[in-house]
Amino acid sequence: MENKYFTLNNGVKMPCCGLGVFQNKDPKLCEKSVICAIENGYRMIDTAAVYGNEAAVGRAIKNCGVPREELFITTKLWFADCGYKKAKKALERSLKKLRLDYVDLYLIHEPYGWVKNAWRAMQECVREGKIRAIGVSNFGIKELENLIKGAEIVPAVNQIELHPFYARKELIKYLESRGILPEAWAPFAEGKLDIFRNPVICGIAEKHGCTAAQVILAWLHAQGVAVIPKSSKPERIRENGEFFKVNLSDEDIVAIDSLDRGESLFPWDKGYKVPLRKTLGFFHLGV
Ligand SMILES: NC(=O)c1ccc[n+]([C@@H]2O[C@H](COP(=O)([O-])OP(=O)(O)OC[C@H]3O[C@@H](n4cnc5c(N)ncnc54)[C@H](OP(=O)(O)O)[C@@H]3O)[C@@H](O)[C@H]2O)c1
Repeated sequence: MENKYFTLNNGVKMPCCGLGVFQNKDPKLCEKSVICAIENGYRMIDTAAVYGNEAAVGRAIKNCGVPREELFITTKLWFADCGYKKAKKALERSLKKLRLDYVDLYLIHEPYGWVKNAWRAMQECVREGKIRAIGVSNFGIKELENLIKGAEIVPAVNQIELHPFYARKELIKYLESRGILPEAWAPFAEGKLDIFRNPVICGIAEKHGCTAAQVILAWLHAQGVAVIPKSSKPERIRENGEFFKVNLSDEDIVAIDSLDRGESLFPWDKGYKVPLRKTLGFFHLGV
């Protein structure tokens, strides 16, 4: 894979494409997938405390043979640890599991709990050299505006659900205006709605002599969005990493834009779990 980079709002360079490891729970398979990705040129890995695979990612980083400073490692703070002291402890736990002295990007996983206190802790960890860039995930415009008010550091990244069925143009525009990089989770909608056999996407793939997965990633990249496709299969990891060769026309982009349904495909984004998470957030004050 050819590596391309975005420059974050603090000057740190972040690869445009990385490997996601959500639901890659088997430690051996997860370690193998990360090593396979790195061997195929990936330099960014996206994990989270709540995925339960930071230790496997850590082993892969140690055994991959690529110097640490060439890699870009993202992990995330779970909402139950969203407080000042809890965030600091959670970062230490993640660093230990990952066998690292610092992470490249640390994200607040969801906008629940004592977000502002966690952010204060994360800002301090940046100054202490334990994190190179901080950001958020699953934040809407209101939540971002609230966080930015009074913050010393503006989030570098907002990692959000983003795929052809949920294109979120307004949020992307807002993020651009604030200098926050959008990063797509579930770029393939986790395979929902038969995305890999969608006639519009497959028609464009046929025209360009590439795969549906590559068309989707190229469409996101064309909008200035970072991508972290997940696969545990070597041939798919390779395939996904090769999307930079696909040059979509304006017409292709408009055709894919037309697939937007304007709503999340995942229940937690529709609010089913929000009251529960808000309540739990209170029980884990940790301020
Ligand atoms: N911040 C958040 O709240 C949040 C939430 C969800 C995910 N994420 C991050 O975003 C990453 C990506 O999202 P995701 O894992 O949910 O879903 P995804 O990347 O949209 O889809 C992954 C699914 O697509 C399959 N797949 C991958 N490449 C393929 C290809 N070329 N052809 C056909 N099928 C293919 C994978 O199967 P195989 O593995 O069998 O290949 C897997 O079932 C995650 O791994 C995680 O790091 C973040």
